[in-house]
Amino acid sequence: MNRLQAPLFEALVQHYESEPVGFHVPGHGYGHIYENEQSLAMSWLSGMMKLDVTELSSTDDLHHPETSIAEAQKLAAQCFGADETLFLVGGSTSGNLAMVLGVCEPGDLLIVQRNVHKSVINGLKLAGAKAVFVTPRMDEGTGLPTTPSLEDIEQALELYPEAKAVMLTNPNYYGMTTKLTSYAELVQRYDKPLLVDEAHGAHYGLHPAFPESAIQAGADAVVQSTHKTLSALTMGAMLHLKGSRVPIASIKEVLAAIQSSSPSFPIMASLDVARVMVDRYRAAWFEPGVASVQAFRAWIEQEDGALKVLPADQTSSAYDSLDPLRVVLWDRTGTVTGFELQKLLEEQGCWAEMADIRHVVLVWGSRAGEDAMQKLQAACKQIEYIIKANSSKRGSVSTRYYPGIGSPNPPKPVEWSRKKREHQRLPLVESEGCEAAELVVPYPPGIPILYPGEVLTKELIGYISTLAGTGAKFQGAIDSTMQTIAVYPR
Ligand SMILES: Cc1ncc(COP(=O)(O)O)c(C=O)c1O
Repeated sequence: MNRLQAPLFEALVQHYESEPVGFHVPGHGYGHIYENEQSLAMSWLSGMMKLDVTELSSTDDLHHPETSIAEAQKLAAQCFGADETLFLVGGSTSGNLAMVLGVCEPGDLLIVQRNVHKSVINGLKLAGAKAVFVTPRMDEGTGLPTTPSLEDIEQALELYPEAKAVMLTNPNYYGMTTKLTSYAELVQRYDKPLLVDEAHGAHYGLHPAFPESAIQAGADAVVQSTHKTLSALTMGAMLHLKGSRVPIASIKEVLAAIQSSSPSFPIMASLDVARVMVDRYRAAWFEPGVASVQAFRAWIEQEDGALKVLPADQTSSAYDSLDPLRVVLWDRTGTVTGFELQKLLEEQGCWAEMADIRHVVLVWGSRAGEDAMQKLQAACKQIEYIIKANSSKRGSVSTRYYPGIGSPNPPKPVEWSRKKREHQRLPLVESEGCEAAELVVPYPPGIPILYPGEVLTKELIGYISTLAGTGAKFQGAIDSTMQTIAVYPR
């Protein structure tokens, strides 16, 4: 196997170049269906359609890989340091579902941090498993939640020896990163696998400036969104497996059940190509992005205006380092919210990854160029004027925004069931003291702030109302404006 080649991508190109006459799906027939169309659809879609084939003897089958997909996955495992890597066409979402459903049977228990992506909750629901939620640590400066402490994970392991695994999310959406080696050692001392949702860290371990990856730290199963910080197409992700603690056969069985039986070849080929770029250029692939973030950080510091970034050298008891390809930007004068800042950036043509009440998260591509940086600097300069012009609103944005959501201490198992329970809908402002009957998930980041069965406190109601009032988008709840909420009858 040659690590400088992309076997799946090359097999697809070779297949197309053999001028196949297809009597198979997909119906667009390599894009030829649009040949006589002088349309936008033709010009935008046709290139991709050349690679959009189906399972043929020349292309292989994701659910039973024998040739080019098998080879591409093996090369990915070598590149990322896994024993086995599985390509995912449903994002880290499908990887999280597969990890949870792969290790948990109905009634089983999983130790999991409280601030997980909703796909983990959906996995627990589908599995009929119970979660022991462990409260995350909170970063003092920003009030943002990270991973739980080692001690709290150990307490959960002591209390629940029957747990099937421990599942962590690292880094968080803001790039706050915990070193996982001691977590892996701890969990494995209890003879359990450590599962990691590393959706935002597909590039970890690939450049000296990056934190080590979860696989390098000794985790047993790790999901990465290759589409988020490497160069795969959206939905392209990888599940890396190491050692014998995770039930690989059952994880594969779940993936075959939850992913399409016609997985997208363009997505799979893009995973192969994303990996080959890493193998071909190694750390140099990321140099432009790393340098650009460093330059932007230095520039913001030198400007010394209202806009501030989370400093790379800041110490926190809640994390060990920050992702060098991500910047958390905010207005230190408290004049504009994160949502307003995001909008102001958009008005200047700069589109951020996400915002919360206070912060905006900017994700740098590994090949980010000088032009992008200049545009961002120009936008920031404009925004500085706007902030100055609105100085009457100075200090109106709360500095601490996360309502310190935690799980009971010691943690107790929470049951997840798909069974419907009788519930009613109340105006949010009248719901204090009620048990929520639905998930409340600001998106992004897609981390639930309220679970069914949890009690609505005054603090939480205030927080949800503020989020809704400042432009947050919600998933999970039926009323996405969050004027009302489903609760269980008292
Ligand atoms: C922590 C975390 N895990 C998983 C996911 C799901 O990833 P994907 O979009 O690749 O399905 C996300 C999405 O943003 C996420 O933030």
